[in-house]
Amino acid sequence: ARDDALPRDLEGRTVVVSAGGTREALDPVRYLTNRSSGKQGYALARVAAQRGAKVTLVAGNTAGLADPAAVDVVRIASARELQTAMAKYAADADAVVMAAAVADYRPAEVAPTKLKKGTAGSADLETITMIENPDVLAGLVAARAEGGLPARSVIVGFAAETGDANGTVLDYGRAKLRRKGCDLLVVNAVGDGRAFEVDENAGWLLGADGTESALALDSKTVMASRILDAVVAQMTAPH
Ligand code: CTP
Ligand code: CA
Repeated sequence: ARDDALPRDLEGRTVVVSAGGTREALDPVRYLTNRSSGKQGYALARVAAQRGAKVTLVAGNTAGLADPAAVDVVRIASARELQTAMAKYAADADAVVMAAAVADYRPAEVAPTKLKKGTAGSADLETITMIENPDVLAGLVAARAEGGLPARSVIVGFAAETGDANGTVLDYGRAKLRRKGCDLLVVNAVGDGRAFEVDENAGWLLGADGTESALALDSKTVMASRILDAVVAQMTAPH
């Protein structure tokens, strides 16, 4: 009955969604990760499939989420594995949604054997040297310009922002949209300043075409629907 209420406006479209957190190995038994639950990305994949899309979900670490029905799930661990998977599956995508929480840095070296405390290698456990990961989202935008993705594909990024003395959530969202070069940016207001910063809104949906709409705090399923509404609007916009 729920499905019946959804439009089939993604019928015949291919959608790739990344979700969850990446894991960056330090040695065979240790890794660095983040608190991403994966819930928003999983909701996007599920709702896109319910709206008729052929969906690939590129999934990192999640809070034990079950695979959504009628979705192809590809598992990745590190940011570099995510980059490779996204390049592959986005190659024929009509929409790409980067909901994954990508580690900005990874350990510069992965020890082939377990690091032990109180031995020569133990310095590697006290001070971990990190190097920057590739920016997967910006890479997809650059790849599209070179024909690696369909020219008319819609690329969506996410940003969780707090305002500070130098700018509001919206200021940081606008700057990030420009920096990344994606078509849509979902900006979530996070942290203690949220209520003060953006009133009752949980965030913003910013379009590269200058459109900006407030996203009221709601379930991740409803958020997914609103985001996909904006994706469909861009897909079907005249050009
Ligand atoms: N992202 C990505 N690759 C990275 C980092 C981020 O693809 N190495 C994507 C995320 O999936 C998200 C968007 O970029 O869709 C914004 O992520 P965010 O962490 O907010 O952006 P950063 O450029 O890393 O900026 P910040 O310094 O605020 O973390
Ligand atoms: Ca980041």
